[in-house]
Amino acid sequence: MDGNVERPSGKRHLHETGPQTLMGRLLRHFWHPVALAVDVPARSARAIRILSEDLTLYRGESGRPYLVGGRCAHRCTVLHTGIVQGEDISCMYHGWRYDSTGLCKDIPAEKQPRAKPVRIAGYPVHEYCGLIFAYMGPLPAPEFELPRKEIFEDTSRAIIAKREFWDCNWFQQVENSMDAVHLSFAHMWGIEGQFGSAISGGRQIPDLEYEETSSGIRQIATRSNGNVRISDWTFPNNNHIVVPGLDKNSSWGHVSVWATPVDDENTMRFRLYSTDETDPTKIAKARQDQKFEPLDHVEKLFSGDLSGLSEQALISAQDYLAVRGQGAICDRDEENLSASDAGIIFLRKLFLRELEAISRGQETKTWARLADKVHLPPPPVAAVI
Ligand code: FES
Ligand SMILES: [Fe+2]
Repeated sequence: MDGNVERPSGKRHLHETGPQTLMGRLLRHFWHPVALAVDVPARSARAIRILSEDLTLYRGESGRPYLVGGRCAHRCTVLHTGIVQGEDISCMYHGWRYDSTGLCKDIPAEKQPRAKPVRIAGYPVHEYCGLIFAYMGPLPAPEFELPRKEIFEDTSRAIIAKREFWDCNWFQQVENSMDAVHLSFAHMWGIEGQFGSAISGGRQIPDLEYEETSSGIRQIATRSNGNVRISDWTFPNNNHIVVPGLDKNSSWGHVSVWATPVDDENTMRFRLYSTDETDPTKIAKARQDQKFEPLDHVEKLFSGDLSGLSEQALISAQDYLAVRGQGAICDRDEENLSASDAGIIFLRKLFLRELEAISRGQETKTWARLADKVHLPPPPVAAVI
C-alpha cells in the first residue's frame, strides 16, 4: 500500500469536514440541505459556509437557486455582495460575471478575452420541501433520491421547515441520534416534556437493536411490550423520528433532521416537521413556537433554566445541552463506551468501513432510499395524554 495514503485511524477522522480529509471526501458524495428556501428570495445572494468551504448562494431572476464559490476569482472580494443578473451573478468590485456553474463569462473592464477561462466553484442544487440542498462532490451528482421521504411529500400534510445553528461538530450530533438511551435521561432533564415522558415511560432503559439498511440504519428501542420506538436514520447525517404533535390533542408529527456541517466546529441543523393538523391558526402558531436558536440562550440553558420553551424547542435544548456539553469537538479518547452505547459503536463501525474504502481508493456503498414505506410508531402513552 502507498505509505502516503491517509488512513482512517480509529476515531480520529470522524469529525472532519474539509475537502482534503477522508470524512470530508465521504460527505461530498451526498446531497445536504444548506439553506431554508425562504431565506433566499429571487435576485438575492447570501454568504454561506458548508463543509469548510465559503460559498455564495443566490437565486436567479427565474427563481432557481444556485451555489457558487464565496469569492471572486479576480481580486478575491466576497461574491454575495454582487448583483444577480438573469441567472448569473456579477462581482460588485469590477463586474466579473459568473454563471451558475461558476464559469466567469464576462470581464467588462477588459477589451481582450482571457486566453484561459476562469472558474470558481459551482455546485448543483435542488429545492425540496422548503429546503435548498446542494451536492459538493465529484460530478455527475447522484439523482436527488436518498433524502426523499414519502411522508414529507404527502400534500394533505403541512410542513414546518426550520434551521438551527449549533456551535459544535456535526458527528456528535449524528451519534446523538443513534443513542436511544439518552431519551430516558437528557429528555427528562430540567423539564419533563411530553417527548421524554411518553417515550421513556418513566425513565425505562430500552433494549437496543440496530440494523443496516439500504439507506442507513434502522434503530429499534424496546422499553416494554407495546413501547417500541423505531428511528429511520439515513446515511450520513439525517434522522427521521416521530415527536409530539402541535398540541396535546394533536397526533404525533414526523421530523427529519439533517446535521449539515458548516465546518469542524459548527453545524446547521435543518428540520422538517410534518403534521396532519389542518387548522391554519395552529400551524401558524407552531411555526413561531418551533423557532429556536440555542445560541441566543446559552447562559440560561447551561445554568439549567429551560423555562419558557415550546415542546419542540425543549427537545432541541436538551439535545443541545448534552451534545454541546461534549465540547465543540468531542475528545473521543476520553470516553468509556459501554453496552448501552451499542448504537454509537454500530454507527462508528459503519463510518470507519466507508472511510477505509475512501482511503484505499475503493468504491463506497451506494446508499438507496428504502423501498418500503417507513412505519415509525408513536409511543403508546401519546394516545392517552
Ligand atoms: S474582485 Fe471581483 S471583479 Fe474584481
Ligand atoms: Fe435527543
